[in-house]
Amino acid sequence: MKSGLTLGIETSCDETAAAVIQDGTTILSNVVLSQIDVHQKYGGVVPEIASRHHIEAMFPVINEALTEAGVTLGDVEVIAVTYGPGLVGSLLVGVAAAKALAFALDKPLVGVNHIEGHIYANLLTGQEIKTPLVCLTVSGGHTDLLLIPRLGEYEILGRTRDDAAGEAFDKVARVLGLPYPGGPQIEKLAEGGNRDAIRFPRGLQEKGNFDFSFSGLKTAALNYLNERKQKNESVPMADFAASFQWAIIDILTEKLLAAAKEHRVEQIVLSGGVAANGAFRKHVEVQAKRNGLQLLYPPAYLCTDNAAMIGSAGYFRYKAGKRSGHDLNAVANLRLGDD
Ligand code: KG4
Ligand code: ZN
Repeated sequence: MKSGLTLGIETSCDETAAAVIQDGTTILSNVVLSQIDVHQKYGGVVPEIASRHHIEAMFPVINEALTEAGVTLGDVEVIAVTYGPGLVGSLLVGVAAAKALAFALDKPLVGVNHIEGHIYANLLTGQEIKTPLVCLTVSGGHTDLLLIPRLGEYEILGRTRDDAAGEAFDKVARVLGLPYPGGPQIEKLAEGGNRDAIRFPRGLQEKGNFDFSFSGLKTAALNYLNERKQKNESVPMADFAASFQWAIIDILTEKLLAAAKEHRVEQIVLSGGVAANGAFRKHVEVQAKRNGLQLLYPPAYLCTDNAAMIGSAGYFRYKAGKRSGHDLNAVANLRLGDD
């Protein structure tokens, strides 16, 4: 019988996901059922529809994860579930399923912060984490720059004051008529484009400021598109996408490196859906090398939402003696360090 098994459950947005993880670091199964097709016709995630689909998919996805891992519920040592941040109706489905299983099987339950999960995706690839480190978590809902003195401890250096980086990608893609999620679409469109063709603004560039702002960039991009339309001029799509993407990559990288320098860390880490962006990874890689920093990022399939990362974070919380009660509730605006 396999030991040290965590069943991870994730339903914070539009992915119903379950995974079986061994010792917090080895993926035995990682099942992600995406609802993208369902939401695409609305141009974004519709919370009510997402919850209903989670309810239908939750137990089939858990069963598939167990079967793929070749284990039974009885073999599982701990059940880990995302309880925030996210869409409350979606979170509740995963939390209710995890509580029911933990209660019925008399197994320990651990609630996991979704952002913490994204960070732990880096532990699932055999990479060696060396704290203290600086981590940039960039997703559809978050842009957080964190100092991690020790695994499980977080100091927030900066975060976005308005849109998240992924949200900026999604909103501009939507105006271009591209399907949700917009990040991968813009990345594809940017291939072969000139990133210096259009100079878009970067927000909050003052030295020592680790907060982000993407609303000015978003407005500038939308104004550019409107002006072209009014003048009946065509949009150079590849150049537009490359320049827009570059404005985001440039400011993210600049602040990440400045934070690493200020806090004298040797390792920098990327996490979250936007970290799947190839141009972003390549640029940070070059800059990290130039500055003598070691860079870690998860493979693309572990950057976007999944339950393997929740299983990993949950296992380490469990090992640190943390447990959730059967009164665990979804917390839509949960912050790192709140728990
Ligand atoms: O981490 P994630 O799957 O979900 C949240 O927790 O939000 O991130 C989804 C976000 C979306 O905004 C999506 O457009 C963005 O990550 N994203 C990307 C790429 N792949 C996903 N953004 C830029 N380039 C990509 N290749
Ligand atoms: Zn996420």
